[in-house]
This record gives sequence, structure tokens and C-alpha cells, in this order.
Amino acid sequence: MKFFVDTADVEAIRELNDLGMVDGVTTNPSLILKSGRDILEVTKEICGIVSGPVSAEVVALTANEMIAEGRKLAAIAPNIAVKVPLTWDGLKACKTLTSEGHMVNVTLCFSANQALLAAKAGATYISPFIGRLDDINLDGLDLISEIRTIYDNYGFDTQILAASIRTANHVAQCAMIGADVMTAPPSVIKGLANHVLTDKGLEQFMKDWAKTGQKIL
Ligand code: E4P
Repeated sequence: MKFFVDTADVEAIRELNDLGMVDGVTTNPSLILKSGRDILEVTKEICGIVSGPVSAEVVALTANEMIAEGRKLAAIAPNIAVKVPLTWDGLKACKTLTSEGHMVNVTLCFSANQALLAAKAGATYISPFIGRLDDINLDGLDLISEIRTIYDNYGFDTQILAASIRTANHVAQCAMIGADVMTAPPSVIKGLANHVLTDKGLEQFMKDWAKTGQKIL
């Protein structure tokens, strides 16, 4: 499963990228706001750090305007994936932008039928939002399973990009189900290294090592 990092924080991206943990980046209008940066400027900087796909989201609501914005975003760098919302206009924009050779990430997906439409419109990525479904007491991971089954049943090439990931359990379960990609904030990716038994075991080893009175260096 590929790891995308869900942030527009350049320093956080750089740190994870240096460790080989970043296969791509996703951003959205809220993350651009959080960064305090200009969208074109920060997106260009991210594309210079990461060689994989960098999703940049349109903010227009009509297909023609989304296409115009998408073309402008795609001109930033060859690794841009234009992100469009899963609306009827977004699907039209997806069809046009993919036919022009751009990568397209269809975002804000909350149902299997929406994912089916995105695949038929030629989306490169579909972004089902797990955490936001969990927030309303639905099971976001069930949606990932449903889409995996549907795409495999019909051989769709669209990659499942599990989004709105909040926990380490989401990550492991997405990998078990077979999501192609998961995107998560830097804190969630770094948190995957944590385990209470690792901390406990390390504490015991340090205590016992001190008792030996030895040094390695
Ligand atoms: C994905 O592309 C989205 O930017 C993101 O995963 C949304 O996550 P949130 O629901 O935690 O805001």
C-alpha cells in the first residue's frame, strides 16, 4: 500500500520523505488554509520535494470552471493530480481532465455508487473518507471493502485512495482490505511506530543494561 501524506506542511513532508515514507501528497482547501501559504506557491514547493503524485484541489463548483482551474493546477508540475469533488460537475471535469492526460483524484466519496461513477469517469484515484463516515456512526472501513470488491469485479483501474484516516487501526485495516493508497496526516504516520509493549520492553532493556555496567561506545 502506498503512503500519501495529507498535509501542506512542507517541513513535515520533507521529514517523512527523507525517510522514504512518502509516495505522494494530498492537500485540500482546509489544509492550504492551515499552512497559511499561497496554493500555487506551496504546491510547487511540495512537487519539488516529492516525486510521486501531489493532489491539488479545485474550488470551483461548475464543470467548466473546475476544468480551467484543473488545467492551471496541472501546469504547476508533471506530478500534479487534480482533485475534484464527487459531484456531477466534478465527474464531468474528471472525464475531460483525464482525457487530456492529467491524473485526477475524485474526492469526498462517501458511497460505493459514487466510487463506481468515478471509475466510469476515468478517475485515477477515488478518495473515500473513512473518518468522516465513522464520525456519523457509519463504518468507513466497510466502504473501502465494498469499493475493493466492485473495482475487482469489473477490473477498474481507478486506485482506491483511503482518506480521512485518523487511527493506526484505519491504516492496518486498509492494508488488509487492499486499498491501493492511504493518505494520513504526518502525526498518524509517525504514530504507526508506537506500541506500548515496545516502550515497556525498551524500558526493561535499559534497566538491565545499566546493571551490566558495560558500554558499546
Ligand atoms: C483527503 O484527501 C483529505 O484531504 C483528507 O483525508 C480529509 O481528512 P479529514 O476528514 O480528517 O479532514
